[in-house]
Amino acid sequence: MHILITGGAGFIGSHVVRHFLKNHSSYTVTNLDNLTYAGNLANLSDVDTLPNYRFVKGDITDGDFLQRLFEEHHFDGVIHLAAESHVDRSISNPTEFVVTNVLGTVNLLNAAKASWHSDFEGKRFYHISTDEVYGSLGREGLFTENTPYDPHSPYSASKASSDHFVRAYHDTFGIPVVISNCSNNYGSFQFPEKLIPLFINNILNRKPLPVYGKGENIRDWLWVVDHAHAIDVIYHQGKTGETYNIGGHNEWTNIDLIRLLCRIMDKKLGRTSGESEKLVTYVTDRAGHDLRYAIDSSKLQHELGWVPSISFEKGLELTVDWYLSNQDWLDNVTSGGYQRYYDEMYSGR
Ligand code: NAD
Ligand code: DAU
Repeated sequence: MHILITGGAGFIGSHVVRHFLKNHSSYTVTNLDNLTYAGNLANLSDVDTLPNYRFVKGDITDGDFLQRLFEEHHFDGVIHLAAESHVDRSISNPTEFVVTNVLGTVNLLNAAKASWHSDFEGKRFYHISTDEVYGSLGREGLFTENTPYDPHSPYSASKASSDHFVRAYHDTFGIPVVISNCSNNYGSFQFPEKLIPLFINNILNRKPLPVYGKGENIRDWLWVVDHAHAIDVIYHQGKTGETYNIGGHNEWTNIDLIRLLCRIMDKKLGRTSGESEKLVTYVTDRAGHDLRYAIDSSKLQHELGWVPSISFEKGLELTVDWYLSNQDWLDNVTSGGYQRYYDEMYSGR
């Protein structure tokens, strides 16, 4: 079994590569990643010498390159995570999201279609998507697999479009696809532009914590290790053509989560209780900011038997411990270009 994992040097992708290498040692895993600002080979330093791991630096927006790669390797399966993933960046540069997330996905589908020649026995194309395609919930209700798509940001619109292409390639060409839509992930190796690692880094450095709007938006948080496990279960047991929602039944308003994070950080850093919370600074809201995401993952739980393994409080503490023990990793990714991006993003807010 030879699996191509795209975006394997990113946050979730690196956990998926690690999970597959450790749990399926008879598989060959090729990690295809273009190493954008979000891709970091250091995320895989504990597994990159395993004999069944290969890394290819390459761009999914280059269709010819993908055709050659598939001709050379005859992959049995694809787990597609490569994407531009940050909502704020999609507001600054929507076109980049169309090119990577939509065109990149169609290029991959074309390469798989050409390589598999309608012989789909033992083949699988697994597309990793997000709950943001469903839009925003009011105070009640949950996203199910049947919730109509209603994306609001250029990021979620690009992911919704890529999901539609994946389903279209199943319906039109018979490609054996499966899709999952997951809620917000947290854990080790997440680039510190996303809420939790950004705020951990800012607390460490006593920098302001920029809370968008009133901090009342709600997200449903899942430990990234549990997402990687769900991806394994769906890759192996999910039904072709189906969609599975993945989530932790773990809703937090941003401000409550930030207060919990501040309490954990004060304790771990030996600071006075309440010190980190003083860094909270309310800033202009994100444009088109979705109010609430919450996932109904009962299909995945009942049909495939997956459940999250740990509570949010425990997972957040493990996450804080990881960033505190890996400050070199944080320093490396927060230097240079990232610092310029950060200054630009928050100037005038
Ligand atoms: P990430 O930004 O951390 O990683 C993305 C990876 O894709 C990086 O390694 C990057 O180098 C690579 N990449 C980007 N453009 C590429 C290109 N043109 N060619 C090859 N590689 C390229 O993202 P993440 O948070 O790990 O998300 C991974 C996937 O999961 C995405 O598809 C995202 O939409 C989805 N997702 C993320 C979350 C979340 O909370 N982070 C939740 C649900 C779904
Ligand atoms: O729901 C799944 C999605 O979760 C994924 O598809 C995306 O790839 C991932 O980035 C994430 O999107 P969010 O926009 O929800 O994540 P982010 O960490 O950017 O923001 C979480 C919440 O925190 C959101 O309501 C915005 C708010 N926020 C974020 C940042 C970066 C702040 O208040 N201040 C900040 O500085």
